[in-house]
Amino acid sequence: MTTATGFPNPFRPGAGHPPPYLAGRAAERDEFQRLLEQTDVFENLVLTGLRGVGKTVLLDSLRPIARERGWRWAGVDLSEAASASESNLAVRLCADLALLTGGLRRPRPAPRAVGFAPGPHETDEPLSFDRLLAIFRETPGLAVDKFKSVIRTAWDVIEASDAARGIVFAYDEAQNLTDHPDRRDLPLSLLLDASQSLQRQGVPILLILSGLPTLFPQMVEARTFAERMFRVCFLDRLSDGECEDAIRKPIEDSSCPLRLNRESVAQIARMSGGYPYFIQFICREVFDAFLLRLEEGQTPAVPAREIEAKLDTDFFAGRWARLTDRQRDLLRVAASREEPDSEFAVRELAERSREVLDKPFSPSHIHQMLGALASRGLVFRNRYGRYSFAVPLFGRFIRRQGAT
Ligand SMILES: Nc1ncnc2c1ncn2[C@@H]1O[C@H](COP(=O)(O)OP(=O)(O)OP(=O)(O)O)[C@@H](O)[C@H]1O
Ligand SMILES: [Mg+2]
Repeated sequence: MTTATGFPNPFRPGAGHPPPYLAGRAAERDEFQRLLEQTDVFENLVLTGLRGVGKTVLLDSLRPIARERGWRWAGVDLSEAASASESNLAVRLCADLALLTGGLRRPRPAPRAVGFAPGPHETDEPLSFDRLLAIFRETPGLAVDKFKSVIRTAWDVIEASDAARGIVFAYDEAQNLTDHPDRRDLPLSLLLDASQSLQRQGVPILLILSGLPTLFPQMVEARTFAERMFRVCFLDRLSDGECEDAIRKPIEDSSCPLRLNRESVAQIARMSGGYPYFIQFICREVFDAFLLRLEEGQTPAVPAREIEAKLDTDFFAGRWARLTDRQRDLLRVAASREEPDSEFAVRELAERSREVLDKPFSPSHIHQMLGALASRGLVFRNRYGRYSFAVPLFGRFIRRQGAT
C-alpha cells in the first residue's frame, strides 16, 4: 500500500528479501571480517539458525564486505535439494567460477615434446564454463581431485590477472548437501575434503555454509575435522534494542505518515518474539492497517488478533496441513509443555504423552517420528540429542490450534 504522501510500505516479509534496515548482526559481520584477514585460511564460517531468522540476508550483506577487501565471491543457493548431488555441485561450481574467470586467460604453456597432446589445463583459451567443466571431467582420479583441480586452476588465473586476495565460496541452504550414506554420492564430504586440502596447500579460499541448525552436526558427522575448520555463528532472535531498530528505522523518514508510540513498538516486538521474518510481516500489516484507520478518521492501533490470524494462515498453516494426524498429536504433546517452544527430549515427550493422550507414544516410536519430522525441516536435533522446532514460535502456533 502506498500512502497519499507516496511513501510505500517499506517492510519486506519474504525469503531472502533484503529488509529496509538490517538490525543487529554486528558480531557476525565482525567475525566474518576477522576471517577475511587470515593470511593462511584455516577457519571458515557456518551461519545457522531457525527458519526466517535472517541467514540469507546476512549472507548477502557479507558479499560487499568481502569485495571491498579484495576477495572474489562465488555464491550458490542450494535450496533445490535435488541439485545437491556431486555432479550438480560440480556444474554449479564451474558456473560460479566461470563468472569470475570468464574473461581471463591462462598464460600459454611452454611447448611440449612431440606426441603429447596438451591437457585441458594447458591452453590459453579463456576459462569459460565449458573449459572449467572440461578440466573437471578430464582430471584423472577421484571427485575430490577434480574439484581441487578446477578451483586451483581458476585461482591461479584470478591471482595472476587481478591481484585478488582469495575466493569466498558461499553456500546457502547447505543442509541440502547432506550426505546420504545409502548412496555413493557425498557432496558435503567432498566439499569439506577439497576445501581443507586446498587451504592446506595455501590456496586462499574461504567457505561459508549457511543453513538450518541441522547443518553443523551433519558436517561433523561427515568429517570430524569440520569441528576445527569452522567458526559457527548461531543467528538468534534480535535483542529488544535491535528489534526496535528493525521496526523504527524504516519509518523514521519525515515523509513517512506512520508514527508508532512506544507501546505499539513494544507490542510488535512481543508478538514477533524478536524473529526477523515476523517483525517484517507484522510491521507490513501494521503499516497498512494504521494508514487505513487514519484515513477513516479512527485512532490507529495494532490489530493484534487479525495479524496473528493472518500469520497463522500465511506462515504456519501450510506446514501444519502437511502433517499426519499422529505427527500432529506428537507435536501437540511437545507444545503442551510449560514452555511450548523450548527444547525437548524423547523420554520427556513419552512421559508427557502418557499424561495427555489416550493413545500415548512409545519412546522408539517418538524417536522414529522425530527423525521423519527432522528430514522435513520441522524439528532439529542438537548434538546432545535434544530436539527443538526448526520453525520459530511453532509451539505457540500449535497451542492456538484446537484439538482437531
Ligand atoms: N537483521 C534483520 N533485521 C531486519 N529484518 C531482517 C533481518 N534479518 C532478516 N530480516 C527479514 O526477515 C525475513 C527472513 O530473512 P531470510 O530469508 O534471510 O531468513 P532465513 O534465515 O534465510 O530463512 P530460511 O531459513 O527460511 O531460509 C526477510 O523478510 C528479511 O528481510
Ligand atoms: Mg534463507
